[in-house]
Amino acid sequence: MTLPDHAPIEAPRTPRTVVVSGAGTGMGRAVAERFLAAGATVVALGRRAEPLDRLRDDHPASEVQVVPADLTDPDAVLRVVDALDGRPVDVLVNNAGGVGSAPEPGLHGLLESYRRTVDQNLLSAMLLTEALWPSLARPGGRVVTISSIAAQRGGGGAYGAAKAGLVAWGAELAARGGPDGITVNTVSPGYVQDTEFFSTEGRSRRHDALVAQTLLGRAGTPSDVAGAVHYLASEDAGWITGQVLSVNGGAVLGR
Ligand SMILES: NC(=O)c1ccc[n+]([C@@H]2O[C@H](COP(=O)([O-])OP(=O)(O)OC[C@H]3O[C@@H](n4cnc5c(N)ncnc54)[C@H](OP(=O)(O)O)[C@@H]3O)[C@@H](O)[C@H]2O)c1
Repeated sequence: MTLPDHAPIEAPRTPRTVVVSGAGTGMGRAVAERFLAAGATVVALGRRAEPLDRLRDDHPASEVQVVPADLTDPDAVLRVVDALDGRPVDVLVNNAGGVGSAPEPGLHGLLESYRRTVDQNLLSAMLLTEALWPSLARPGGRVVTISSIAAQRGGGGAYGAAKAGLVAWGAELAARGGPDGITVNTVSPGYVQDTEFFSTEGRSRRHDALVAQTLLGRAGTPSDVAGAVHYLASEDAGWITGQVLSVNGGAVLGR
């Protein structure tokens, strides 16, 4: 008898526990709703309680656990671990991020602003993932991190650098997770409207110019990104790890 040359098919645990950072608005909310529609339990993280409570209240028939936490604060991250109370995590979606306020004048102001940006976009994902790493399902755990088109072409001062850092860190993490059957992938969105990223109105002031850069002639939507995240967290994506999936309407071409 010959041994199979592939890992056994994983029996999916139902319902899956899915941790989503930045789950109250924009892409994070769409990601949470995609998993809720598939019957998952969602642990919804973000600094503000109100958008997270709204997500929970809008889905009374689903299981949404709200844990307000500033993920740049290690103590807050440890409270997330406590809130999980030893439950295995099937999927971790590192989505929280954003561009902060403009720097104060001078080098000190610049340093402060760059640090905030790196904390919010890179270290928040690193801290949360490290804290939840022992809880990830083995085999079958999934980590999906939201980077940005800015990682490829710059933008936002330290923002593009922080988002590029997520890709390098994701490669290391994928190597760590491989032997345990954990996949780690990155989704790199282009311009996505209907989020709080650019403004509370959900659009960039450069909306028309950003749409014109796409081959498909439209902005992305949070659900475009949620679909990609959901796929990478699926059983079908079980042999995809250490990859970056661009979801940008063709604004930057892959190779
Ligand atoms: N929109 C775009 O065009 C675009 C393009 C490429 C990549 N991205 C990336 O996509 C991700 C989602 O952004 P979005 O466009 O959906 O914008 P968004 O609506 O502003 O969502 C960002 C979410 O992250 C949460 N968050 C920010 N800092 C946090 C922290 N320190 N701790 C915990 N939660 C935090 C925010 O909630 P609280 O404020 O309540 O904490 C918010 O819910 C971000 O990583 C962003 O950088 C966006």
